[in-house]
Amino acid sequence: MTIDLAALPHDFLWGTATSAYQIEGAVTEDGRSPSIWDTFSHTPGKIDNGDDGDVACDHYHRWREDIELMRRLGTNAYRLSVAWPRVVPGGDGPVNPKGLDFYDALIDGLLEAGITPSVTLYHWDLPQVLQDRGGWSARDTAQHFASYAAVVAERLGDRVKHWTTLNEPLCSAWIGHLEGRMAPGLTDLAVAVRASYHLLLGHGLATQAVRAAVPGAEIGIVNNLASVEPATDRPEDVAAARRLDGHTNRWWLDPVHGRGFPSDMREVYGVELPEQPGDLETMAAPLDWLGLNYYFPSTVADDPTGPAPRVRTVRRLGVHRTGMDWEVEADGIERLLLRLTEDYGARKLYVTENGSAYPDVVRPDGTVDDPERVAYLEQHLAACASAVRKGVPLAGYFAWSLLDNFEWAYGYDKRFGLVHVDYQTQRRTVKGSGHRYAEIIRAHGGRGRSAA
Ligand code: FCB
Repeated sequence: MTIDLAALPHDFLWGTATSAYQIEGAVTEDGRSPSIWDTFSHTPGKIDNGDDGDVACDHYHRWREDIELMRRLGTNAYRLSVAWPRVVPGGDGPVNPKGLDFYDALIDGLLEAGITPSVTLYHWDLPQVLQDRGGWSARDTAQHFASYAAVVAERLGDRVKHWTTLNEPLCSAWIGHLEGRMAPGLTDLAVAVRASYHLLLGHGLATQAVRAAVPGAEIGIVNNLASVEPATDRPEDVAAARRLDGHTNRWWLDPVHGRGFPSDMREVYGVELPEQPGDLETMAAPLDWLGLNYYFPSTVADDPTGPAPRVRTVRRLGVHRTGMDWEVEADGIERLLLRLTEDYGARKLYVTENGSAYPDVVRPDGTVDDPERVAYLEQHLAACASAVRKGVPLAGYFAWSLLDNFEWAYGYDKRFGLVHVDYQTQRRTVKGSGHRYAEIIRAHGGRGRSAA
């Protein structure tokens, strides 16, 4: 299919994304302490096939090779996350120089390859020692997060200008503390709501810390927003869709935009927020951009007896699905980009994650053919370009993911990479979708020619 590449700005960032725990491995090396994901993945029954992130893609040792792959793809940006337990193994207090050295060298390597680093400070790997003291349900964690953010920003800020505080805080709060399907694996609404509050407080404090440490920093937050539709036009289902929108979108966007927490959702949760004077101002610390992670749309119906937010997902028939069983609907990304622009006045946006998992295999000739992922990539890029034509200030796209990796509770079976990883040998193979991405990037760079 054609993508209207001429719509995209000249200096568009073409990136790939990963996160520390999903690719690094080396969990006990150079002074790293355990994170909540080490604990969770080593708890029997939590991860498919009993997988864990102990070795993952061994990126901690193979990062030079991985930068080389980025260069082959022709990307000009890379979104990575820093592991808090490598840098401040005690959660707060002493800094581990070896942890910082790793990221320092990685950043230099990226810059030498002409790749702009985009650094996420928290992609879910809270030091376990802090979980033992209450984790995100404790107010102190927000403060410790800001101190750790300052340490990283001071060390890397001379070279890194592009910063993200949190990746998908909704997963940390709702999936980690309410649904229990992610670390720390709790199922307690009151704790989850407190965690959501302290995550956003931590976001605000970290934003201030990075701003103070890095002249010219461009700071944002990354949310995975839901494009929600009611299953029917029954008022109950329409109200359910509104609740999911509150739970997934407005709860995370409104406070950051100085609008406080949505009152309808405060009522739905019925949990008192641990508010202190000045918190809402801190959460609304000015940002330079917003990041959107988008994978699939949500169609929902009322579920009066279910847990908050009392909605259930409805399977639509005849819709293509990925290996995650997620529906494919590229229009959703366009709708969300438009919403961030129109309802939240976004001045700069990035798609910080978008991608699909399929059960890829390396063929006898050594290639990986993944036409479904190619189609997914093309459809979503076309939708992004269409959004830009409608006035969306989209400045870059980061494909999830550079590599197949540890897909959280699903383990290694779900492959999202543009590059295949053989976990026995750690051999990397660029998939068909990786080649297609490279071709699209080249076509955009050549510009004037309008489509690829
Ligand atoms: C997102 C996560 C990312 C990855 C993708 C598939 O929710 O941010 O780490 O697991 O989903």
